[in-house]
Amino acid sequence: KTIDSLGDLRGKRVLVRSDFNVPLDGTTITDDGRIRAALPTLSRLADAGARVVVTAHLGRPKGSPDPQYSLAPVAARLGELLGQDVALAEDVTGDSARSVVDGLADGQVALLENVRFDARETSKADAEREELARELAELADAFVSDGFGVVHRKQASVYDVAALLPAAAGDLVLKEVESLSRATTDPERPYAVVLGGSKVSDKLGVIENLLTKADRLLIGGGMVFTFLAAQGHSVGSSLLEADQVEAVKGYLAQAEQNGVEIVLPTDIVAADSFAADAPHRTVPADAIPDGTMGLDIGPESGALFAGKLADAKTIAWNGPMGVFEFDAFAAGTRAVAQGIVDATAAGAFSIVGGGDSAAAVRALGFDEAGFSHISTGGGASLELLEGKELPGLAVLED
Ligand code: 3PG
Repeated sequence: KTIDSLGDLRGKRVLVRSDFNVPLDGTTITDDGRIRAALPTLSRLADAGARVVVTAHLGRPKGSPDPQYSLAPVAARLGELLGQDVALAEDVTGDSARSVVDGLADGQVALLENVRFDARETSKADAEREELARELAELADAFVSDGFGVVHRKQASVYDVAALLPAAAGDLVLKEVESLSRATTDPERPYAVVLGGSKVSDKLGVIENLLTKADRLLIGGGMVFTFLAAQGHSVGSSLLEADQVEAVKGYLAQAEQNGVEIVLPTDIVAADSFAADAPHRTVPADAIPDGTMGLDIGPESGALFAGKLADAKTIAWNGPMGVFEFDAFAAGTRAVAQGIVDATAAGAFSIVGGGDSAAAVRALGFDEAGFSHISTGGGASLELLEGKELPGLAVLED
């Protein structure tokens, strides 16, 4: 159901679940991509004369108010971007929330304080979540689910509240689902997937699914060392999930059986320690010296990966190739991003998923327009690529 299905919204209170889980340095937002991505829905509702009440989380507070996770910086930034003051309620559904909502004029937007300050938000007990959802529902006449990054969470403000009010998917959620579906349903081939990030264990489900869907799987980032170890290579003191080596061996065998090409780096940038200025050198991927740790894929691998992307028609990318936050270890991620931009210019449909890869694209100075779709979802986009049913989406279809 889309926002149109909610009818005339003038003067109506609309509760919107957004994903404002943005990276912060103290109280400074270092990447406001998720806030900007929420603007189309919020502006549309405000322009329609709705009284917009936004609920969102930030970080993983322990279920009680914690100033370091306050949404105050988000309210300020959202206000700047919307061109109107955005009031921040001091609580989630209490006196302050009720009075902020009562004070809204048509077309105004307000934000409730971090919904995870209330332990019921993430409770495993249905009754507890439902109780919070009822309190949220009392603040509104309709619900719009637009926090794509949280639709994989069965939480009160994402899942339970949708059953209590006329509910619809927001424009961001629609755009995300439509874009990701191009990769999950009958992708145009060759379909190449680049996976990075630190842990194999975070990506087990998606790898299993991709072994039946993708044509090529390019692996980099910290997780690659578990692949190299599974091939019998020593990885020095690089990140290694020893308990996943057997699973990865199984994946390599299955890939061969299914005709899926697994592309691993041939060279690695190995450093003496995990630091921006650590001494480092490029070494063959099958000969990482003891006492050194791989912090990026090497230049030969960057070129290899870009070559494997060049003729792809569908590309999904999740996870950086190295520690791109440190200049010395950003080249691999840059090479993959450039390869995807070039393939996109040549006609591929490309999706960048996962908070880290999206942040990397922006931090490395790439123009977002060079990619077909930059997802705001981390876990959510992975779970869609994995072929899972997402509770926050399923509840909107019912
Ligand atoms: C994210 O950052 O991926 C989303 O905001 C979800 O956050 P969570 O993993 O803490 O639920």
